[in-house]
Amino acid sequence: MTGTAKNAHLSRWRCPSNIALIKYWGKRDFQKPINASLSFVLQNSFTETSVELYKDGNQKVEFYFEGNESSFDNRIEKYLNQISERIPWVNKYNFRIHSSNSFPHSAGIASSASSFGALALCLTELDFAHSGKETDSSEFWQNASELARMGSGSACRSVYPGFAIWGKTQLFESCSDDYAIPLSEGIHPVFFGLCDAILLVDSGKKEVSSSAGHQSMNEHIYQRSRVAQACLNINELYLALLTGDQEKFITIVENEALSLHAMMMTSNPSFMLLKPKSLELISRIRRFREKSKIPMSFTIDAGPNIHLLYFQESELDVKAFIERELLGFCENGKWIDDQIGKGPENRGR
Ligand code: PMV
Repeated sequence: MTGTAKNAHLSRWRCPSNIALIKYWGKRDFQKPINASLSFVLQNSFTETSVELYKDGNQKVEFYFEGNESSFDNRIEKYLNQISERIPWVNKYNFRIHSSNSFPHSAGIASSASSFGALALCLTELDFAHSGKETDSSEFWQNASELARMGSGSACRSVYPGFAIWGKTQLFESCSDDYAIPLSEGIHPVFFGLCDAILLVDSGKKEVSSSAGHQSMNEHIYQRSRVAQACLNINELYLALLTGDQEKFITIVENEALSLHAMMMTSNPSFMLLKPKSLELISRIRRFREKSKIPMSFTIDAGPNIHLLYFQESELDVKAFIERELLGFCENGKWIDDQIGKGPENRGR
């Protein structure tokens, strides 16, 4: 996680995706969360983005996704417009942005966290180069996290290695709704060996956008209880991470995943993103855990895919279980073999 700002016109970063253990669901103001969330970054699921600035008459933004020019629903233009209040030079340049993902576009994996994470890191590096500031500072990561948040809330947790917390909590004074902070000190070593097998159930387009999902929490009858639950869960999970309590980790992580989907099912309008195969995978994971006593749990994003979380020491047994019992429920037998990651990487120029 290093970088020095030399060239004020070009920046290239690789930024990982992250998976939340305590879920962010519901926002207030501009991209601020109604509850704090806690996640870890992945190692093999990332976006690589380069941003090139040039001046040439009319202001424009060229965006290439995996080599092809794409409008990305003008989301990048809107984003650049929004952040120009913080970084005024954004209005003075043309942008040529190239972006690609390590995971297949059609896998049904949300890429907004890694995409906005990578873009925010590039913009922060360029900004620091403009003002002659060194990038090797906590201010750099904090700024990058805040810029990422403005693109997609969960992206603010992607700019650090390992675990991160976003949102005010009683745990640390340094926690903020504006940016995430890294969570590395005191974590029990067992959690450095956390693995994530992403079981791909359905690659179809999501039934509901995440912004519509967050909005559904505004008038949700369970909003207050959900915020209280997330607050208790984050405290308990942090304790489990410190003490290496795998059992508690499992209980909280599953409770969070199912609560997220319970919020979706009980909102008005209601939506259901889990598929019959997602439920089958969950019950098989629970049955195997019961029988084998191997510590493992599942978590779920806003989609039907199941993230099977387990620990390095049981890798062989779990992979054999996946092949034997789970792949039949994955779309075309596909899954992604991932693990807790080392964070973003400056890819030079
Ligand atoms: O960052 P968004 O707006 O795409 O929201 C992500 C929400 C969840 O993935 C469901 C939970 C989370 O904390 O990442």
